[in-house]
Amino acid sequence: MNLSLPFDVTSGAIAGYAQTERRLSDLPASFADQKALAGLLDAGNPLLYRVSLIEEHNGPGQLHYGMGVLMPGQVGREYFMTKGHFHAWRPAAEVYIGLAGQGLMLLEHEESGECHAIPLSANTVVYVPGHTAHRTVNTGNEPLVYWGVLSSDAGHDYGAVGKRNFRQVVVAQEGKPLVMERADFLAELEAEKL
Ligand SMILES: [Fe+2]
Repeated sequence: MNLSLPFDVTSGAIAGYAQTERRLSDLPASFADQKALAGLLDAGNPLLYRVSLIEEHNGPGQLHYGMGVLMPGQVGREYFMTKGHFHAWRPAAEVYIGLAGQGLMLLEHEESGECHAIPLSANTVVYVPGHTAHRTVNTGNEPLVYWGVLSSDAGHDYGAVGKRNFRQVVVAQEGKPLVMERADFLAELEAEKL
């Protein structure tokens, strides 16, 4: 049982643990601008993020934890982001600790639909309440690196987010991040086609 693990804050690597890579092709329905997405897939299918999960302590009171490295970049005007998820055990909360870079955590409560975009950057800690979908967004020019710590009983539910996506998007407007309703952004994209 490892009680201390060295990690590399630049690469997100943890000695002895594999990193899972997610490329743009792994998130085909997450981004709104499908034309921009197709162009990026043709141009090489960029790496969006890497995660390392430490899930070796299990049972009542135990914790799982993981390190994420989310690359900078955009799909059209939308910043690179993670797939996002609920916890399978909905009451489970999570703490995210920002280590490097600049970004946002999108939160969306499952029942009320209440949304928040919370800064997640170096030297910032974010509390994700239970029953809340969460997704990280890199709004900066360097990798966004963070730890997440949660109950070992939490589990991950990607399917519910996959079906409904998030109600809000984070897009670049004159070089700055703007949080807007997905429906409004989709309407803007449609208008641009005309
Ligand atoms: Fe989580």
